[in-house]
Amino acid sequence: MPGGDMAKPLLGHQDMKNDPNFALAATSRTVGILGSGDFARSLSMRLVCSGFKVMIGSRNPKRNASLFPSAAEVTFQADAIKKSDIIFVAVFREHYTTLCDLSEELSGKILVDVSNNTEISHHKESNAEYLASLFPACTVVKGFNVISAWTLQSGPRDGNKQVFICSDNLEAKRAVIEIVHMLGFTPVDMGSLLSAREIENMPLRLLPAWKIPVFLALGLFLCFYTYNFIRQVLHPYIRDQKNKFYKMPVEVVNTTLPCVAYVMLSLVYLPGVLAAIFQLYHCTKYKRFPDWLDQWLQHRKQIGLLSFFCAALHAVYSLCLPMRRSHRYLLLSEAVKQVEKKADAWVEEEVWRMEIYISFGIMALGLLSLLAITSLPSISNALNWREFSFIQSTLGFVALVVSTLHTLTYGWTRAFDENQYKFYLPPTFTLTLLVPLAVILAKLFFHLPCMNQRLQRIRNGWERGRYVKFTLPRASGEFSSGESSSTV
Ligand SMILES: Cc1cc2nc3c(=O)[nH]c(=O)nc-3n(C[C@H](O)[C@H](O)[C@H](O)COP(=O)(O)OP(=O)(O)OC[C@H]3O[C@@H](n4cnc5c(N)ncnc54)[C@H](O)[C@@H]3O)c2cc1C
Ligand SMILES: NC(=O)c1ccc[n+]([C@@H]2O[C@H](COP(=O)([O-])OP(=O)(O)OC[C@H]3O[C@@H](n4cnc5c(N)ncnc54)[C@H](OP(=O)(O)O)[C@@H]3O)[C@@H](O)[C@H]2O)c1
Ligand code: HEM
Repeated sequence: MPGGDMAKPLLGHQDMKNDPNFALAATSRTVGILGSGDFARSLSMRLVCSGFKVMIGSRNPKRNASLFPSAAEVTFQADAIKKSDIIFVAVFREHYTTLCDLSEELSGKILVDVSNNTEISHHKESNAEYLASLFPACTVVKGFNVISAWTLQSGPRDGNKQVFICSDNLEAKRAVIEIVHMLGFTPVDMGSLLSAREIENMPLRLLPAWKIPVFLALGLFLCFYTYNFIRQVLHPYIRDQKNKFYKMPVEVVNTTLPCVAYVMLSLVYLPGVLAAIFQLYHCTKYKRFPDWLDQWLQHRKQIGLLSFFCAALHAVYSLCLPMRRSHRYLLLSEAVKQVEKKADAWVEEEVWRMEIYISFGIMALGLLSLLAITSLPSISNALNWREFSFIQSTLGFVALVVSTLHTLTYGWTRAFDENQYKFYLPPTFTLTLLVPLAVILAKLFFHLPCMNQRLQRIRNGWERGRYVKFTLPRASGEFSSGESSSTV
């Protein structure tokens, strides 16, 4: 057998203790947990299932042992600490000081702070930094706080998969990251322990990306509802003393919801138009958008999904309109009038108008459903960039056009009927049409070959040329340079 590498045994005389991987595997095999509450129980279960030996440190091991999987050893706190190098502190911050008696045993160990607060930035320093200040001889790693006890129990498939980790000690962080991997979660390295505050705030934030879009939707709803209330309820009450207050829960809502859905949909595509104007004006794609436009572009998904939500509600309300008792009474009295007059109620134009606008409405909702489905991560991950962009950008725009056709055919000639102007207020659909029509016209304008080519060039990286203008040296003989722009 030739010598060299082939002659070496695969396993055997290597110094395994100096191998960092071996050291990591060896230290992470036995893991300690301080506390025997909900989190400790779920974590121990997941650790045991992932092949770890688990030592639970409790103040009352006898009482709590039955709550843990039989493979986990439930013992006194000091004993659990002695037998493990990595210890999860599954105890509330308020009780950290009660662990101070164990400082000596804890010395040199890695402490994983899993705690959360009840309020954002509740304390001056993060819980992890507080723990590190109480135990200066230990290395503190922040992590696992974004994972609930329930997620730990049911496994990573059913819950949030990311575990955010931070620590000032790279080796300790690596060891904990390894555990995260072995439990089937995805570690996200957030850097030093200074990030602990941010990580502790994460589970307390309530849908941060939705705040502005939700307020926008509520604001629009309030404005349109008031407008429609004045037109549909207040006007007949003041002008003709007719009580139309029954319209408030369904009819006024069903005139308001589509307005919100439609305007919100146009607000999804308006920032793309503004971005194009900005890029054309500055002749570059490298200039930063103003903050408000940047924010707006980032919130399009949420604005779009809220538009879809309102449109879906509008469709359900519309389908329920004929079910109402008020509708049946009105239908009856219409029928009686017609029998008395012996008139034919069939108005061909009205029949066609309704057939067409309902059909456009259904088509628009169908397209919006497609956009909403592709915004689900499991679906969008299966699409390539071109497919996703085609659905979101092109089909989304088609949805806006079809919604416009739905609104226009619904409105028909009523914009020109003076009886529709209650208190001189125009019908609501005329107001809703303003922004969407502006967006559609602007998009079509940018699709003109001359505009489209210019925009595409800019988006491919072309910039209006900049050259350095050299002016001849004056008396001193030095060059001075100045920037000036010129069209290329
Ligand atoms: C129900 C619903 C669900 C939605 N879900 C999502 C979602 O999951 N994710 C999401 O992001 N949005 C979502 N949206 C919002 C919206 O559909 C997308 O943001 C959409 O891409 C906006 O299209 P746009 O044409 O206005 O702008 P953009 O797609 O941004 O692009 C405008 C034009 O510029 C081009 N362009 C843009 N940037 C560049 C560049 N750097 N270089 C070259 N060309 C460029 C594009 O090809 C396009 O022609 C959703 C909307 C709705 C109604
Ligand atoms: N539950 C979750 O879903 C979840 C999710 C993320 C993070 N966390 C964090 O995990 C930690 C534990 O949460 P938990 O839900 O498991 O709480 P819990 O059910 O109330 O358990 C806390 C444990 O702390 C131990 N403890 C140690 N010293 C204590 C003292 N002086 N007084 C009271 N208890 C003391 C107790 O165990 P012994 O009696 O055995 O000593 C107790 O069982 C918290 O910091 C929490 O923020 C929890
Ligand atoms: C299944 C799908 C849909 C159905 C069945 C439907 C049905 C209707 C009906 C019945 C009306 C008249 C309401 C009234 O009498 O007050 C209406 C109006 C309207 N719809 Fe839809 N619609 C659908 C989808 C959509 C979608 C997707 C949008 C836009 C995003 C939309 C926007 C509008 C607008 C703006 C109005 C005019 C509201 C007003 O000013 O009175 N609709 N629709």
